[in-house]
Formats: sequence, structure tokens, C-alpha cells
Amino acid sequence: MTRDAYLALCQQIVEHDRRYYVEAAPTIADVEYDRLMADVRAIEAEQPAWVVAWSPTRRVGHQPLEGFSKVVRPVPMLSLDNTYSEDDLRGFHDRVVKGLDGDQPTYSIEPKIDGFGIELTYGAGELVLAATRGDGTTGEDVSANVRTIRAIPQRLREDVDVVVRGEIYMTKAVFARLNAERVAAGEEPFKNPRNLAAGSIKLFDPREVTRRPLAAILYEVVDGERIAAGHLASLDAIRRLGIPTSTENQRAAGWDALAAAVAAWATRRDGLPYEVDGLVIKVDSYEQRAALGTTSKFPRWAIAYKFPARQVTTRVKELELNVGRTGAVTPVAILEPVEVSGTTVQRVSLHNWDQVARLGIGDRDRVLIEKAGEIIPQLLGVTERADSPRWVAPTACPSCDAALEREEDKVVLACPNRLGCPAQRLAAIDFFAARGLMNIDGLGERIVAQVVDAGLVADVADLFVLTVEQLEGLDRFGEQSARNLVASIAQARDQATFARLLAALGIPHVGGVVARPIAARHGSLSKLLATVDSTSSDQLIAQHTQIDGVGEVIARAVDRFVRDPHARVVMDKLIARGVDPEEPVTAPATGPLAGKTLVVTGTLSAPRGEVQARIEAAGGKVTGSVTKKTDYLVAGADTGKTKLDAAAKHGVPVIDEAGLAQLLAKP
Ligand code: IVH
Repeated sequence: MTRDAYLALCQQIVEHDRRYYVEAAPTIADVEYDRLMADVRAIEAEQPAWVVAWSPTRRVGHQPLEGFSKVVRPVPMLSLDNTYSEDDLRGFHDRVVKGLDGDQPTYSIEPKIDGFGIELTYGAGELVLAATRGDGTTGEDVSANVRTIRAIPQRLREDVDVVVRGEIYMTKAVFARLNAERVAAGEEPFKNPRNLAAGSIKLFDPREVTRRPLAAILYEVVDGERIAAGHLASLDAIRRLGIPTSTENQRAAGWDALAAAVAAWATRRDGLPYEVDGLVIKVDSYEQRAALGTTSKFPRWAIAYKFPARQVTTRVKELELNVGRTGAVTPVAILEPVEVSGTTVQRVSLHNWDQVARLGIGDRDRVLIEKAGEIIPQLLGVTERADSPRWVAPTACPSCDAALEREEDKVVLACPNRLGCPAQRLAAIDFFAARGLMNIDGLGERIVAQVVDAGLVADVADLFVLTVEQLEGLDRFGEQSARNLVASIAQARDQATFARLLAALGIPHVGGVVARPIAARHGSLSKLLATVDSTSSDQLIAQHTQIDGVGEVIARAVDRFVRDPHARVVMDKLIARGVDPEEPVTAPATGPLAGKTLVVTGTLSAPRGEVQARIEAAGGKVTGSVTKKTDYLVAGADTGKTKLDAAAKHGVPVIDEAGLAQLLAKP
């Protein structure tokens, strides 16, 4: 191995990053990429003197920072003036035409990404500085954090000097995933992707930043006239250098083309994978830009066109209590229907009872609602209190009237009545049918409610005796759709494994991961129940805690469920109706992780299921909780303290995604 070979390898990875992030057309599989990364790491460990600043391994994030040093710009970074209507925009155009002595400009029209502004300086093709906008003149050096963002190249395809400006953002999908995990953990969601992106870039610990998958789009080349005659051409040029630019930018010559393009954006806006709060309209020609100049605050050659607000106020009608599958009773505010960015919002979850207390909310209050893209609507606050009692946490289940119990963390109130509670039964059927569990195609929430209301189905076992004739009689069912549903239920039954069936039953704490060793231990539902009948609770719990990844809490939850009389009736019915699959026996594993037990937690850049599949393909086993038998804890973003503490207690090494990639890549 020579230094040149090492550099070539780094360059190869840089090129793969470009294909992935700039072209959105990767040419190698993730595992191959991971293997290349592992090679670079191995070489760098042996030859530390060879390491270059732009090495792909430098993205992992190093020491926490004390703070950010200041970056002072000789020429301030300006912001943009805003317009909110076509009339205002026409005003801008008229000013431009006047400033150009009657010449018609060509404009670029760009989505205004709602993220965090950044300026990147490349010297001889290498990223030397990433600075925030700050107050325009003084920004902060956030290079260490920005280097962790894989979409931003640390080395360009040519050794040029160039300064570019753009936006760091988080996609709506990643935002929704991070937030869903927070809500599931009983925490309050982040407000919007911009706050989360900005908060991430300002973290003092770059290692933490790596756990927040961020993306970037660059939209301005400083002194762009050095490389092209027009702005859009300069963006094409930096894109060829490997810098990600927007693929949505449009060119419009004159007013009519501009107005038409802007109008068309009203419906395009929500189709983008990231949040946009408007458009940016810029004169394309650098010569014309120079002729127009700037005011003290804004350039005269560009303007932001803001989309209509996504925040509106409406009146609260009442409080609805939503009973989930696990019995958790959560507060939902029912609203007077209101249009927010193209959709009608009429209910918004308040997540937990702490928030209800904090808001001090009651019937008929006027409230501020925000709905951004596909992001869950949120209630931001009460703007006007009505003369009505404030909402308080209920004491009885709205569905079955059982006395509610507070769970350990106090913010969750739950109905203890399990399958004896009609609302939980409905949610349980819905959960049972879900993708990844029993996989019953075509059985969504609406149809579940329909068959339950019609008295055809009282529990999950009843699904398996539904007939075409029964379904045909229901609203919106034709003969064909009835046949399809009956067929997909039969197919789900025939293709199920015991592990998926077990997970689909919705036993608290028993997800797809722990269900597998438990299923493997017993072989089938009927065998599990036979064991239940011949052992005491203590024996069964002791037996289950022997299983890797099954702790006391899980073992107790299983025992409680299998001995619950309502649940037992359903399980017996399932078996009687032919739903009793055998767990397939798996061959002893081979591969780099053979015999190793890993726990995967937190937010990763790939879906959890995919990461699990990769570990299993390498012969490893994935379990749900950290015990002394765990070999590694793979920790993603927002890893909970409980897991980290358990790892520390049992001396389990904690690794990140890069560390996992390294393990997977071992020959
Ligand atoms: S150009 C002088 N283009 O919007 C021109 N800005 O208030 C400076 N933004 O601070 C900005 N998308 O953070 C430009 N395609 C785009 C943009 C964009 C988002 C942000 C940027 C800027 C703010 C303008």
C-alpha cells in the first residue's frame, strides 16, 4: 500500500458520495461502500501520517468544542426582502425593469428551503471553512459540525478556490421519524425541521451531529461571474465540481413566464422532500445584478416570495380522549375545521397530560395551529381563553369506564382493561393487521372500524372466519373487494411465522425483535400455551429471562398477557381457526458477526429493520435490551440514557453506525 493508493481510495469514496448526494444515482451497494470505508480506516490506523483533512473518516466527528470561533466578513451576507402576493411581486419586477432601463431580465426561480444558512469556503478544492450567517457580518465557524454532513463534499473534483452559500436542512421524512421516536418516548416533539437543523449545527459535540441526518443544497456562488456569465450557469458549474444544488430551479424570461411559474408552485410545494416556505426569485445575469446593486439590507436583484402562512387560528370544540392499543389515553383537541396549506385540520393531538396542564386549555378557546407539509399538525398555544372550565386529566376510561392508572413516568394515563376495553380491541385489530406484523393487505383502520361496527369482528381471531357474503353487505364493498380481502386474510395466515404472530398480538414491550427468540424457544402458539398451562408464573418468567435479550420487564409482560382471560380466549380461537404457524428453524449463523448479540437503538440513517437485516445477514443476532450477554450497543441519534447506562453497567461497548459498518466489513 502506497500513499497514492490511499489517496485514490479516499477519492473513490468522495466520488461515491457525490453520486449518492448530488446525482441521487449511487453506483454501489451500501455494504460495498461500508467496506471501502473500513479499508480507509484500517490504512489510517496503520499510517496516521498519511491522513488528509478531507478523508471520509473525518466525517465521524471528533472532540466536543468549547464554543465556535467568530468569522468576520468584509462584505456582509445580505438577506432578502419579502413579498407575499402576486401584486408585490409585480412591483419587484417593475423596479427591476426600471433599474435596467427597460431591459427584460431572465429570472431564476428557486424553492426557498426552510433550513439554516451556511457559507462554505473551498481553497484549492478543499473545504477550509463553514460559517453561519450570524448577523450577516459576523458568523460562527461551524466547520467541525458541517464536516459530518455527508452531502457536503470536503474535496471538490477540481482544485479550485470557490465560496458558495446555501442551506442545511433536514428532510420531512427524517424529521417525522425523529419526532415519532420522541413522541413514542413520551417527549415533546421538535417544532419544525428548521429548528432541528439549526439546533443540530450549533451543537458543541460533532459526534452528536452525526446522529442527526442532515442534508444540504447550495444556491449562490460568491463572485459567481468568475466562473459563468449567469447565476444558473454558475450553479451548474459548482454542481459539476461535486456540490449539491437544487434540481428544482427554473428559468423564466420576463414577467409572464415568472408569474406562470410562481403560480404553478402552489401545488408543487408539498411534493418536495423538504420544507419550503416560499420561492426565491433572482435576476440571472451577473451584469444586470451589478447594474441593479443593493440597498443597505437587501440586493435589488432578488426577492423572496413567501407562501401563505401555515399557521392559523381556530376555535377548540372539545376534548377527545383517544384510547390506544396499549391502553394509553391521550388528549386530542377537536377543532372547528380550518384550512391550513391545502388540507383541512380538525383534530390535533396534545401528546400528553403535561402539555394540557401547561397550555391551560378548555372548550371554545381560540388556538394557534401549525401544519407544515405532511408534518403532523401541532397546537402552538392558546390565543384567547373562553369562559369554560380548563381541561383536566380523566379518571375513567372513555371506552369502558375502568379506573385509569398512571404509568411509571407519570405523564401517561392508561386503561388497565386491555382486550376487555372496546377501544383497545379496535386498536389491537388494526395493529395485528399491520405491515411487518400479520401483513393483511387492504385491511386499514376504516375497514377495521366497519367490520367491528357491523358486529362481524370482535377480536383478531374473528378476521379468519369472515366470508365474502358478510363483507359484500357492507358499505363500499363490492364482490371483488370482498373476495380480495378474504384472500389476503387467508394469505396472511398461511405466510405468518410464530414470531410475527406473537409480535402482532401487541404484548407490551414485545416487538418484532424480542418476539423472535421467544418464538424460537416455544415453536408455536399452541406449544407456548401448553407450557403456560403446565408452569407457574414464576417458572415461566424465570424461563423467559434465560433468553438473550429478554429481561424481567418483558418476561412479566408476556406472563401477564398469556394468563389474561380475554387474551387467552382470543389465542385459543386463533389456534382453532388454523392460525398457529410454526417458527422456522434457522441454521447456525456464519459471517463476521456470527455468535454476536447486538442491540440497535436511536435514530439511524437507514430504517431500523434494514440495519437489523444487515446484522442478521452477517450472522449476528439483534435483541431488544442491553444485558451482560450483549456484545455491542449500536447507538443512533437520541439514544436513551437507560440503554447507555445499561451498557456502562455491563461493560458493553457502544458503537455508532460507522463502527457497525466496520464490524460488518470484517472479512
Ligand atoms: S439567496 C443575497 N436562495 O432565505 C441572496 N436564499 O432571507 C441571499 N434561502 O438567508 C440568499 N433558499 O438562508 C437564497 N434559493 C435560495 C434560498 C435562500 C433559502 C434562505 C437563506 C437566506 C434567506 C433569505
